[in-house]
Amino acid sequence: MPEWPALVMRAREAAVAVGMSLTRAGGGPSCCLPAVGQFLAVLAAGCKGGLIGEAGTGVGFGTAWMAAAMPADCRLVTVELDETRAAAARQVFADEPRVEVVNGDAFEELARRAPFDLLFADGGSQPAEMVDLIRVGGRLVNDDVTPVSLLPSDSPYLTHDPKRDFFFDDPRLISTEVVLPDLRNSLLVGTRVCDVSGHR
Ligand SMILES: C[S@@+](CC[C@H](N)C(=O)[O-])C[C@H]1O[C@@H](n2cnc3c(N)ncnc32)[C@H](O)[C@@H]1O
Repeated sequence: MPEWPALVMRAREAAVAVGMSLTRAGGGPSCCLPAVGQFLAVLAAGCKGGLIGEAGTGVGFGTAWMAAAMPADCRLVTVELDETRAAAARQVFADEPRVEVVNGDAFEELARRAPFDLLFADGGSQPAEMVDLIRVGGRLVNDDVTPVSLLPSDSPYLTHDPKRDFFFDDPRLISTEVVLPDLRNSLLVGTRVCDVSGHR
C-alpha cells in the first residue's frame, strides 16, 4: 500500500490533537475514512484548472486527500462552522495557498464561490442544495452510508433512505453507490448532467 501523503499525515495529527475520531464509531463528528479520502483523491486528480468545495472541513482530513492529489492549477475551498476545528485546519494548510479554509456556514460560503467541479458534502449541507452549486459535469460526493446488506431487517432505511433517495431520484444527477474495501461502509457519488432548465 502506498504511504499517505504528508498533508494527510498533518491532518491526522490535527484530528488527534482536537480529539476528532478517525473512525465512524463514537458520537461526535469524525474524519472521513481513509478509503473515502482515497476516492476523493481520484476525483480531485481530474480537476484540471478546477475548483473543489467541501462542506464541513472538520480538521481537514478529507481536504488533505483532495489537496494532495489535485492538479497544480486547481483550488479548493472548505467551510467549517466550528471555530476550533477551522483553526486547526488552517494550521494544516498553512503552507498550501491553493486551499482556503473558511469559518462559517457551508451553504452560504460555498454559494458565493460556486460553481464547483467537485463538491464533498460532509457537514451542515443538504445534497439537494449542493447540486445547485456544481457545474454540469461536476461531481457530488456524500459518505457515511451503510451498505444495504448490513442493515438490520427492521431498519427504516431499507424502505426510505433520504440520502439514497436523493442521489438516485434527482433528475440532475447520474449516481452510484460505492462500497468501500472494508465492505462495511459506502459512499454516494453523482455527476450533474443538466443545467437549471433541465438541458443536458
Ligand atoms: C463529518 S465532519 C467533517 C469531516 C471532514 N469532511 C473530513 O473529511 O475529515 C462534519 C463537520 O461539519 C461541520 N458542520 C456542521 N454544520 C455545518 C455547517 N452548517 N457549515 C459548515 N460546517 C458544518 C461540523 O462542525 C463537523 O466538523
